[in-house]
Amino acid sequence: MARFPVSEFKELPTPFYFYDLSLLDRTLAEIKRTARDPRFKVHYAIKANANPGILRRIQAAGFGVDAVSGGEIAAAVEAGFEGGKIVYAGVGKSDREIILALETGIECFNVESLPELEIIDELARKAGRKAPVALRVNPDIDAHTHEYITTGLAENKFGINLGQLSEIIGTAQEMDNVELRGLHFHIGSQITEIEPFILLCEKINRLVEEYEKKGIRFKSINVGGGLGIDYAEPDRHPIPDFETYFNTFRNHLKLSEGQEVHFELGRSVVAQCGSLITRVLYVKEGVTKRFAIVDAGMTELIRPALYNAHHKIENLSSPNGERHHYDIVGPICESSDCFGKDELLPAIRRGDFIALRSAGAYGEIMASQYNCRPLPPSYFSEK
Ligand code: LLP
Repeated sequence: MARFPVSEFKELPTPFYFYDLSLLDRTLAEIKRTARDPRFKVHYAIKANANPGILRRIQAAGFGVDAVSGGEIAAAVEAGFEGGKIVYAGVGKSDREIILALETGIECFNVESLPELEIIDELARKAGRKAPVALRVNPDIDAHTHEYITTGLAENKFGINLGQLSEIIGTAQEMDNVELRGLHFHIGSQITEIEPFILLCEKINRLVEEYEKKGIRFKSINVGGGLGIDYAEPDRHPIPDFETYFNTFRNHLKLSEGQEVHFELGRSVVAQCGSLITRVLYVKEGVTKRFAIVDAGMTELIRPALYNAHHKIENLSSPNGERHHYDIVGPICESSDCFGKDELLPAIRRGDFIALRSAGAYGEIMASQYNCRPLPPSYFSEK
């Protein structure tokens, strides 16, 4: 079991997020080791977690940022990331956000439609700048993940369909205020098989070759993010298999001279270093069930309610007690406010600390104030 300073938790109001910075550092070091290739550039997908303490660590390790809103660009700049290391995606960029991105001097806009490209061209002209752009292509690949987090199928709202790509590339090349740098792809999130990534490489190779024949060369190929993590056994796999992941692209992508590959990893960077820590308020005997009612709910961690996701649940206060079945539920007035059903856990008492593991990605950042609850604070393993 991961180590938690439970005696220090006693002083703190719950619920809160707890981040193991040494695990984050080891994860960042492993990414750097396995992505070692002068052509590979890793951008952290800030949507996974924008906690300033986490961002500063990732910035200091030399990564870039993948942002999807003006707010994320501002958070990245605040944490010390250079504008030139920020890429910016999203199907609905507002004029104000585009202007902020231009002023920040970002590395690249990942453009998702023709009307968006036209607005970027116009706003860049007004600002007296040339906007670097990559076109986000919808590669129509099934990533075999949850339907809400699969993004690369033709039916999804993301990216430019393959049938329209050629025309939009032609348009981009004729624009005075955009510079077409590359192509961008992202097929989905929490992908636990390597095959969808191989299919993506093959699709990219075919496209790149097709355009090279027409004399169009792309400086950068952005393959998005999506590498999954082990939610069931976080202590067995605290660091995802980055070696296999990066080797897949090394071995399957045919790169031409001077071409760069961009990665946008979110979950795999930060998920395992974070846990949501909550206290047990009541143990309630139902007719057929025993409920442990905890003081965190879907307001602090919405993934179980929204995606039917399961985060490993641990009783930190009495890890060795006799085991019983519990439904672990929160205090919110929604039946979906449930973290686990029939969980076999060491006997739970009022006041016990419970950890919801692997919550470092899409946990704190997706917290809400529903039921007028305050946003959860965060604490770190190091001061
Ligand atoms: N690049 C793009 C264009 C994306 O849309 C995403 C995630 C990423 C990169 C990072 O993907 P990652 O490496 O984290 O898989 N809230 C959901 C996940 C939504 C992911 C959205 N896009 C969840 O809690 O599972």
